[in-house]
Amino acid sequence: MFLVTLGLLLAAIFIIHQYIYGYWKRRGIPYIKPHLIYGNLKGFVNRNESFALSAANLYYKSEEPAVGVYLFFRPAILIRDADLAKKVLVTDFQNFYDRGVHSNEESSPVSANLFSLEGKNWKDLRANLTPTFTSGKLKKMMPEIELVGNRMEEYLENLIESGHSIIDMDEVATKYTNDVIVSIFFGLDVDSFKDNANIFAQCRDQINSKDFMINLTMATVFLYPKLFDFLKLYRFSNKFMNMMGDIIQKTIQNREENNIQRNDFLQMLMQLQKTGELEGEENGLSPISRKKVKLTMNQIVAQTLLFFIAGSDTTAITIACCLHELTQNEEVMQKLKEDINKALEKHNGVICYDSIQEMEYLDMVIQEAARKYPALPVLNRKCTKPFKIPNSDIVIEEDTQLIISILGFHRDPKYFPDPMKFEPERFREGSERYNANAYIPFGDGPRTCIGMRQAKISAKVAVVRLLTKFQLTALEKREIVFDNYATSLKAKGGIKLKISKNIH
Ligand code: HEM
Repeated sequence: MFLVTLGLLLAAIFIIHQYIYGYWKRRGIPYIKPHLIYGNLKGFVNRNESFALSAANLYYKSEEPAVGVYLFFRPAILIRDADLAKKVLVTDFQNFYDRGVHSNEESSPVSANLFSLEGKNWKDLRANLTPTFTSGKLKKMMPEIELVGNRMEEYLENLIESGHSIIDMDEVATKYTNDVIVSIFFGLDVDSFKDNANIFAQCRDQINSKDFMINLTMATVFLYPKLFDFLKLYRFSNKFMNMMGDIIQKTIQNREENNIQRNDFLQMLMQLQKTGELEGEENGLSPISRKKVKLTMNQIVAQTLLFFIAGSDTTAITIACCLHELTQNEEVMQKLKEDINKALEKHNGVICYDSIQEMEYLDMVIQEAARKYPALPVLNRKCTKPFKIPNSDIVIEEDTQLIISILGFHRDPKYFPDPMKFEPERFREGSERYNANAYIPFGDGPRTCIGMRQAKISAKVAVVRLLTKFQLTALEKREIVFDNYATSLKAKGGIKLKISKNIH
């Protein structure tokens, strides 16, 4: 009897398995052969690689422009062709409006953020938040970035004076971006260089935890948004959310009671809370027309927290990887120093918004760092209207999940010859050493990264300050190996560099 039951059970599992993993075959769409239970995420489940690395590895397992994969049991299409990606992200955006990640304002207020919102809710909020990042607004935020830059320099000087000659650039850049974002977006003054146990650092640690269950929960936000809701999973503990909410509410209250005005994001959110629109700004970046959106307190907390999560680690990775490459490529480092000095001479040595904008080679260096190390390496979209892939019989059905491996594109020699070479000149005007459609470190189209300009300016300021004050050199010739956890790219073992004071 036991053997019969076992036999029936195994037969049932086999049939279900064949049915689930027969999804792409039944539709006549090419697919990558899945593993039993894991689908195509065996490396991720076995904790050998992060989700982003799994996606990049799948990219290299096929030659098709679009290929069916299974994210565990969930069928998804991996886009492997840069022109097709452009259609999905930009030209045919109407067919791929949403990300398809978990968002439910009622059960989880923090999920009602710009990254996760869908349809009209996203569109209205995006149009209202976009003016936050105009160059005029960013220019006004420079003093806050300056202050954090001073603290970073002081911290490194003290380290050198106390006999340290090796730093973890990943750690230093993370402290820097942590404080820049907290200052600009929360309007608070924290000093991670003195106290690295602040609540924002705790928030980052929760997101970047190596704990497998936390990683799985985070992956569920992307892979099974409905299951996330059904199981009542939480991105953050209630205690933590209450603490964050409390900090933001108290800051707002303090500003209102004492009539304090700051040039920061929180001030803009406060304005949106009151009037539903930002005054005196034309919508510089978005083609979308604006409609008033009055934010609730929960929505303010959700946006500030998202901007911290989306902006802090990503910018830190870009800075740290950029400095790693500069120390590995002496010639590039030299050229960059000349570019920096030339611009600074014109501005009496002042590192400001205008002098930074004049550093053309620096811009190319940052572009190349974001190419080789796209900090958020996977894009996702949900098909919102059936779409026929041009020159093929494949129709992407509504509700199908799509993924695009930015890391896959950025290291594909078809799009970027000699992809492991750090070559800022690729981005010189007229260069044929990169494919513009395949270069998407900040995504593309109406849902592109809203913080791109802010991220670039903070990264540039950090790189310029570090290179003008300190001598950074590599410990050894090496390629960065990525860690097996977190949504963003993480360098395994950090990014250790030799440091000493610059002697002029
Ligand atoms: C080097 C640093 C950064 C990188 C590499 C990066 C990358 C990305 C990518 C790849 C996306 C998805 C775009 C798409 O789906 O087409 C994204 C979205 C987003 N990013 Fe960034 N990001 C960075 C910094 C920032 C900063 C500093 C902020 C905020 C201050 C930010 C806020 C956001 C938000 C809110 C979204 C969602 C936009 C929407 O759906 O409308 N990011 N980012």
